[in-house]
Amino acid sequence: MAIKHSLEADTEYVQNKKTVTEFSSSNSIASCENTKDEYKNSITNTEVQQSEYTESINPNSDFNTKNANTLQDSIQDTKKDEITLEKNIDSIEVPNKVESIPLPNTTAVSVPSIQKNNTNTSQLTGYEFFNSILKSSKLFLAPMVDQSELAWRILSRKYGAQVCFTPMFHAKMFSNKENRGYFNEMWQTNEQDRPLIVQFCANDPEHFLEAAKLVEDHADAVDINLGCPQHIAKRGKYGAFLMDEWDLIYKIVNTASKNLKIPVTAKIRVYKDLDKTIEYAKMLERAGAKILTVHGRLAEQKGHKTGLVDWSKIKAIKESVNIPVISNGGILYREDVLSCLKETKADGVMVAETSLYNPIIFDNSLSADESIPPSNNSCVNGLVKNFDIANEYLDIIKGGVETKISYVRSHLFKIFKPSLPNYPDLRSELAASKSIEDFSNVVDKLKLAMQPEIESSKFDPYNIEIDEFGYKIIPHWYCQPSIRKEYNKVTSSGDKPLGRNVVNAE
Ligand SMILES: Cc1cc2nc3c(=O)[nH]c(=O)nc-3n(C[C@H](O)[C@H](O)[C@H](O)COP(=O)(O)O)c2cc1C
Repeated sequence: MAIKHSLEADTEYVQNKKTVTEFSSSNSIASCENTKDEYKNSITNTEVQQSEYTESINPNSDFNTKNANTLQDSIQDTKKDEITLEKNIDSIEVPNKVESIPLPNTTAVSVPSIQKNNTNTSQLTGYEFFNSILKSSKLFLAPMVDQSELAWRILSRKYGAQVCFTPMFHAKMFSNKENRGYFNEMWQTNEQDRPLIVQFCANDPEHFLEAAKLVEDHADAVDINLGCPQHIAKRGKYGAFLMDEWDLIYKIVNTASKNLKIPVTAKIRVYKDLDKTIEYAKMLERAGAKILTVHGRLAEQKGHKTGLVDWSKIKAIKESVNIPVISNGGILYREDVLSCLKETKADGVMVAETSLYNPIIFDNSLSADESIPPSNNSCVNGLVKNFDIANEYLDIIKGGVETKISYVRSHLFKIFKPSLPNYPDLRSELAASKSIEDFSNVVDKLKLAMQPEIESSKFDPYNIEIDEFGYKIIPHWYCQPSIRKEYNKVTSSGDKPLGRNVVNAE
């Protein structure tokens, strides 16, 4: 079973690798703490590999362009970018003063038309901020490079995500006054996109502050990514590779919290040592962080060592600080949300990977009451058919939310992951799709192909069988979490027997 699973994952990885090379503009400079080979591949192909980045910002390659002026601007930007990126990215000069940076138009949404924040919330305590601005929300969509883009946030909010994070942006590039290409390409929001927390990676207090200044009028908080464990973060020295640099982290958070009009939050991983983990959290609180999101894995828990999440460490942090704590990691089914809140006593739960495979993960998750009607008629007991959700996502984009083709392809590969092995031709067609219309056609074909099996199925969504590891056995046409049973041997305290990757087996 485990071998089959990993073979499937590999096939998808190869498929996506091909996609990245042939069509994609996986342009984010950034990387993160994702555990998937596919994602790892995408980030490895992006950050400092300038030629690929240059290719990726070629507007002809991958934009779903609807606006001729924007395209023209992008072409100009691209030319400038190509020149600039001939140099080493680290040599890009970023001016010290940030006050005068104008807020440029975005490619997707005209930010200046959005009402600006008119109150200063930076001096609120963590709980004042959490209760008044975030409305005591419990369900958080995680920051996900290339995946928590505006269209996905709209879909996630529809199905219950109460607070959304942007993907991680590279603070230095985001605030580069000489070259607005990265900013214009990355920054997307609209009136409905609130509460919103914008995440950056940074290893310099000024860069973080400069980037944050650009979004403080249009977001509820800015977050520093201290959890990214990928090789690329090592090279850029950010994310989890700052975990030994407490003075620097303190300065980054403190400088921003004193100079912004919105709060600063931080997303962290845990250490093996519990006392150190708690001291770390307290240091961030002292520095001025108003919320801590704690991913209950170690920095080295990635790739094939991803393993189990340690909820007990999240609970210990929650008991030790006076700011809200959001628990992150290991949510597979919507009932896990309640278990997580109960076990960690956290103020909220953040979901990343599972939300990409099953965006309705939050739907009705705070209630065990099945009599509460689902937010969409096509949802039954936490299940939704993959082609229905794919069409909803595509409809959001067709409605005018500009979204990069590479993001769309990546989302559809995840949504259809359990089904695609059954339809190799349609899988290839999905990989080769270059427009929203192409994607819609493939989704229609997949839906048609699945109909006979769906109609003859005896599956009862109210009586789901469980396999020997504790995972639900769900037909492939329903959105469902991606499960790596072979990874579940590792916890933050050492090897453990196989088990569901929801709670630490300790
Ligand atoms: C596709 C993908 C992209 C990610 N990008 C980011 C990111 O931009 N910033 C970040 O802090 N974490 C990022 N992560 C890590 C998640 O936010 C989260 O901490 C981690 O996946 C554990 O949560 P989960 O078990 O719900 O997936 C990413 C994860 C995935 C799957």
